[in-house]
Amino acid sequence: MNNRQLFLQHVAQTSDAPLALEIVKAEGMYMWDAGGKQYLDLIAGISVCNVGHCHPAVVKAIQEQAQQYMHLLVYGEFVQSPQVAFATALSGHLPENLSTVYFTNSGAEAVEGAMKLAKRYTGRTEIAAFNRAYHGSTQGALSILGDEYWRNAYRPLLPGIHHLEYNDFRSLDAITDKTAAVIAESIQGEGGVIVPQPEWIHALREKCTATGTLLILDEIQCGLGRNGTLWAFEQLGIIPDILLLGKALGGGMPLGAFISSHDIMWSLTNNPVLGHITTFGGHPVNCAAGLASFNALLEADIIKDVKSKEQLFLQHLKHPAIKAVRSKGLMMAVELENFAVNKKTIDYCIEHGILTDWFLFAPECMRIAPPLIITAEEIIKACKVICDGLDNV
Ligand SMILES: Cc1ncc(COP(=O)(O)O)c(C=O)c1O
Repeated sequence: MNNRQLFLQHVAQTSDAPLALEIVKAEGMYMWDAGGKQYLDLIAGISVCNVGHCHPAVVKAIQEQAQQYMHLLVYGEFVQSPQVAFATALSGHLPENLSTVYFTNSGAEAVEGAMKLAKRYTGRTEIAAFNRAYHGSTQGALSILGDEYWRNAYRPLLPGIHHLEYNDFRSLDAITDKTAAVIAESIQGEGGVIVPQPEWIHALREKCTATGTLLILDEIQCGLGRNGTLWAFEQLGIIPDILLLGKALGGGMPLGAFISSHDIMWSLTNNPVLGHITTFGGHPVNCAAGLASFNALLEADIIKDVKSKEQLFLQHLKHPAIKAVRSKGLMMAVELENFAVNKKTIDYCIEHGILTDWFLFAPECMRIAPPLIITAEEIIKACKVICDGLDNV
């Protein structure tokens, strides 16, 4: 059997139609398959490779840390310098109340940790989340996921969850002094890039403050420069009580985080002790990679060009089949007639060396979320292939 057949036989599948490309190398904006074909990556491993694939500084940090030590002990017991350095660097670029970082294995684990933290700190049990929100695939994260089709098969889920409508003022009435936390994506990703209205997100912040509810902002997909500032909440003009990071945080290695004040985070230390336990969360090699990636993102000033690159995409994504383009920086949803048109165009793009995708709750939309290092030439080329693909459907 060849590798593809072994993959289908022995690696658990998540659908009956995986892309099943066999990638043998990835660097910067590109991937190469076993036959030597090159793909321009328009989705960055779903918003992960913000500084590009295998950034040399990230690779070097991984190699150096692997030679010092890898796993030592479960999270939280030893002073591990890669964790300390990365937590310090993150808090140095965050508001004062986001000073304490709990590193996790994944985005979903950060979501779980934040939900537990909010319950512990407030002594309340209810959590509010939004329709069309995606926060991960574990049981707690599924309970707050905003789409019944994807949730339904796993009931019973967590009790005390309220689903509200994003960008809807009246739904804020459901936030009361029984609500431990409201969790919202700063920009909804899987819903097809839904940007919050400024007045609404301010009203949400105010309602949380008035009711003693913690506001959790999920920037797992939209954070770390993707929308043109380091943090998405900077552009919203509000500050969360808990911030969630993941995906791009590890520079291509698995790493998530929930971040809050020292005071709030302290509630995980007592009664009972060890409020959140993780063996591999904040793995030293992953933290070293994350810090190298974070420094590369800041030092190369990659973020400052994100908005002009967004404009270039918008300028070149012109085709009668495109109904709308919703975007915030290099997080874009190209709305087409339906999933069939989208899928055909995606297949055409892949055939022509452009890797793109759709959204979980917006299958009629094409995902564009490339590494932030994409060049003007690559943007123009990608848009041409997409438009040619649309000519062919
Ligand atoms: C906004 C958001 N939150 C949470 C998650 C879950 O992250 P992970 O897949 O690392 O568990 C995702 C993943 O797509 C996401 O987009």
